[in-house]
This record gives sequence, C-alpha cells and structure tokens, in this order.
Amino acid sequence: MYQPIIDFVGNNIGKFIVFTDVSLALEKRNNSLQQAIAFLLLMFVVGFLIFNFVLVVIDNQIKNYQKDLFGQRSNLKATIKQLKSTQAQLIEKEKFAALGNLVAGVAHEVNTPIGMGVTASTFLQDRITELKLAFEREELTAKQLEKFVKEGQETSQIIFSNLARAADLVSSFKQVAVDQSSDQHRKFNVVKLIDEVILSLRPHLKKTNHQIHVNCDKNLSIDSIPGALSQIIINLIMNSIIHGFEQTNEGEVTIDITVKDNHFYLNYKDNGKGIPEEFISRVFEPFVTTKRGEGGTGLGMHLVYNLVTQALDGDVRLYSQVDNGVSLDITFPIQNTG
Ligand SMILES: Nc1ncnc2c1ncn2[C@@H]1O[C@H](COP(=O)(O)OP(=O)(O)O)[C@@H](O)[C@H]1O
Ligand SMILES: [Mg+2]
Repeated sequence: MYQPIIDFVGNNIGKFIVFTDVSLALEKRNNSLQQAIAFLLLMFVVGFLIFNFVLVVIDNQIKNYQKDLFGQRSNLKATIKQLKSTQAQLIEKEKFAALGNLVAGVAHEVNTPIGMGVTASTFLQDRITELKLAFEREELTAKQLEKFVKEGQETSQIIFSNLARAADLVSSFKQVAVDQSSDQHRKFNVVKLIDEVILSLRPHLKKTNHQIHVNCDKNLSIDSIPGALSQIIINLIMNSIIHGFEQTNEGEVTIDITVKDNHFYLNYKDNGKGIPEEFISRVFEPFVTTKRGEGGTGLGMHLVYNLVTQALDGDVRLYSQVDNGVSLDITFPIQNTG
C-alpha cells in the first residue's frame, strides 16, 4: 500500500510502500467465512427439515380431504341412486294413476247399460206378474197376451243389447287395462284404441262441453305398443282439461294421425291457455309443474317424453304460446300397417 512522504512544511515529496502482515487479517476473514457457510448450511438443513415437515402436514391434510371426499362421493352416489329409484317409482305411480282413471271410467261407463238392463228386467218382471195374475183369475184376454208378447220381446231386446254393450265395454277395457299394465307389442286399430281412451276419460269430460276430434283413417291398424300410446293420449287430454281448459268450459282438442314411410305421425292440439315460453323447455323434465300442492306431480309430460322416446323409440316436439294452446308432434317408427 502506497503512503505519501510529507516534509516539515507540508509538501508532498514522495511516497513509500508499507508492507503489512496480512495473514492475521486473512485468518480472521476465513473464520468468519466458515462461520457464515456453517450458518448457511445450518439454515439450509433447518429449512429443509421445516419444508419436509410442512410437506408431510400438507400431505396428511390432502389425504384427509381425499378420504372425506371419497366418503361424500359414495354418500352422493347412494343418494342419487335412491333419488333415481324414487323417481322411477313415482313415474310408475303416475302410470297407475292413469290406470285408476281407466277403472273409474269403466265403472262409470258400464253403469249405464247395466242400469238400463236392470230397469228393463224389472219392467218385464212386473208384466209377468200381471200376466200370471190374469191367467190365475182366468181373466187373460188374447189382446192382453198379444201386448205382453210384444212388450216382452222389446224388453228382452233392450236387456240383451244393454248386456251386450256392458260385455263389450268390459272386454275392451280389459284389453286397455292389460295394455296399460304391460309394454306388449300387438297389432291394433288406432281409432278404436283412441275411442276407448276417450270413453275412459268421460267422467272427467262429463260436466264440460269440451270437444275431442280425432282425424284418422278408421281402418288404420298398426303393430306397436298400444299401452304406451293410450298412456300418452290420456296424459295429454288430462293436461288439456286440467291446465289448458282451466278457465273455459268449451275447450277443443284435435288429434290428427297419419302414417307415412313406416312412421306414425300424431299431432295433438288444444286451444287452451298454452304454456309460457320460458316454461316450455322444462315441461318434459320430471317434477316440473305449475300445480304443486294442487294435485300436480310434474310427471305427466315426463312420462309422455319417456314413452315416446324410449318405449316407442320416437321423437316428440312441443309448441305453445300463451293463450294459443299447445301443439305436440309425436313421431315413431312402426313395422306393419294395414
Ligand atoms: N295442455 C296444456 N296446457 C297448458 N299447460 C300445460 C298443458 N300441458 C302441460 N302444461 C303445463 O306443463 C306442466 C307439466 O305438466 P305435467 O308434467 O303433466 O305435470 P302436472 O300435470 O302434474 O302439473 C303443467 O303443470 C302445466 O303448467
Ligand atoms: Mg299432467
């Protein structure tokens, strides 16, 4: 290291070099360097340990969360399974509600001809008693006998036709009931099936002036699932009565049916109050109803959708506008027609 040489007056007259022993300073510096490295190493080791500890804690925490999640997931799975089975049960119940309708319809329809038969047979019994009395008293005239024979013939004809009507109704309802409780394929006449369905709904239509028009070839028979088709029509008509015609006594339903290229086309239309636009997209979802707490389950249209798309392997589209009724296009493939 250079140092200046200063004379007495203070002038700089040269410089000299000072040699110092640096070994001491170096040793000192080395010591502090070692200490620093040792400190850093220590810090590193401590840091590493803390880091590992934190990792273990986090890992445990994640495992706990995972365990919780797995538990919750299997709980959720069980709940979803239960909900699905409840939903299936409810849909089945809805199907049976339609069957219940049918039973009520049978009771109502069969009641009329049987009632008329009972009245006619009572009348006949009275006439027989009269005839017997006249005969016993030996007062029976030819005219009286002739009258009796005429009335007897007429009355027995009334009894016969009413009993035949009742038997007809029972057997056709029996077929509808069997169809509805099974998903069997068979060949059936479409107009006859729809007529039977409408007949079974008569108790619901009795106190109203609602009209149901069916436009379909009377001879059209198809090979399909009659139970599914009648369930669909029952649900649609009941919806028109309960929802569409809520505020009118003069609703009109039109069912147009055609068959083309091995496809069955059914358009169902009513002129009721219609469905609000924002509601249409959800109508086929289960449990969507505007009559919750008033007997609505929200499963009718879901059932219609399931029957068309699954049982009949077809397609259903719904169009509606408020105050402009509801229109549904149902299409499904069929095999034989005739
Ligand atoms: N023909 C219709 N006219 C007006 N609204 C209808 C008609 N059909 C269905 N809807 C509406 O769609 C909803 C769902 O029908 P649905 O699934 O059969 O359930 P629910 O009849 O039990 O209410 C009904 O609550 C009603 O608001
Ligand atoms: Mg309904």
